[in-house]
Amino acid sequence: MKTGFTLRNVQFRNRVFVASGTFGYGDEVRNLVDVSHLGGIMTKSLSWKPRDGNPPPRIAETPSGMLNSIGLANIGVHAFIEKKLPYLRTLDTHIVVNIAASSVQEYCDVLGLLDEHEGIHGFEINVSCPNVKEGGLSFGTDCDRTAEITSRLRALTEKPLIIKLTPNVTHIGQFAAAVKDAGADAVSVMNTVIGMAVDARTRKPKVSTVTGGLSGPAIKPIALAKVYEVAQSVDIPIFGIGGIMTAEDAVEFLLVGASAVQIGTANFIDPSTGVTVAKGIESFARQQGLNDIGELVGALNARKDFSVLQSWL
Ligand code: DHB
Repeated sequence: MKTGFTLRNVQFRNRVFVASGTFGYGDEVRNLVDVSHLGGIMTKSLSWKPRDGNPPPRIAETPSGMLNSIGLANIGVHAFIEKKLPYLRTLDTHIVVNIAASSVQEYCDVLGLLDEHEGIHGFEINVSCPNVKEGGLSFGTDCDRTAEITSRLRALTEKPLIIKLTPNVTHIGQFAAAVKDAGADAVSVMNTVIGMAVDARTRKPKVSTVTGGLSGPAIKPIALAKVYEVAQSVDIPIFGIGGIMTAEDAVEFLLVGASAVQIGTANFIDPSTGVTVAKGIESFARQQGLNDIGELVGALNARKDFSVLQSWL
């Protein structure tokens, strides 16, 4: 069974990755997960300086979902290089470093510094954190700004450049087309959906910033529709993300057009979900008599003349 796929100059072992922010820098789950069964690890977002993130409470459980407002808490790029990268280099999987910043220049500084170091196989750019005042969604909901960040970063690296898009826009397909034209190799679809949870008794919002990013199975149908829209709009690979808990969920994302998937919220229940999903996709493909998991990508049986989405695009 062929499980892998190629992005730019990198051959990934399989199509299952762990999503940024849900797997730390790999070392937290050192004794729990055999990462050699993953396509790769997306690290927690890095910025130039360390960030403490938002005040607590930062996480609330919602029906079939999780609302978070971490605020891009991270150790900063210098501590990452010194303290985390040496361990990540020992792992038998690919490492994609996620970057978040408050200015175009900061994105460039972080990527430029990381690009000089061994052991990083690609970059995923977070232009869509819902929980910070500067950067975050103010970039990711502005198509020209997103394209500008992409082209500035493209000039700095030969490694795969993946832009993580927000669903909090009207036409995500337009953003995907803009970043493709600006030189992105792939897009991650999607980041969290802006949400809110309220405690009726205390009359307080359940996260300190009032609204947060919603993830988990609650958002899977939204994510499938966004991946489908992007797949109809561009021909670059898509990392499908949003509420994947099982191999069958992952196959659904492949069918609507994702070339790979990322497991996020499920890692907080079981950090080895990605390994289980990777094995499960392989047995599903075998049962279907396939030779290559890539045969599932975009293989949805859809009467396109009935899709309302088609008339929007
Ligand atoms: C955070 C960042 C995200 O991209 C996201 O979707 C949710 C939360 C954060 O660090 O706050």
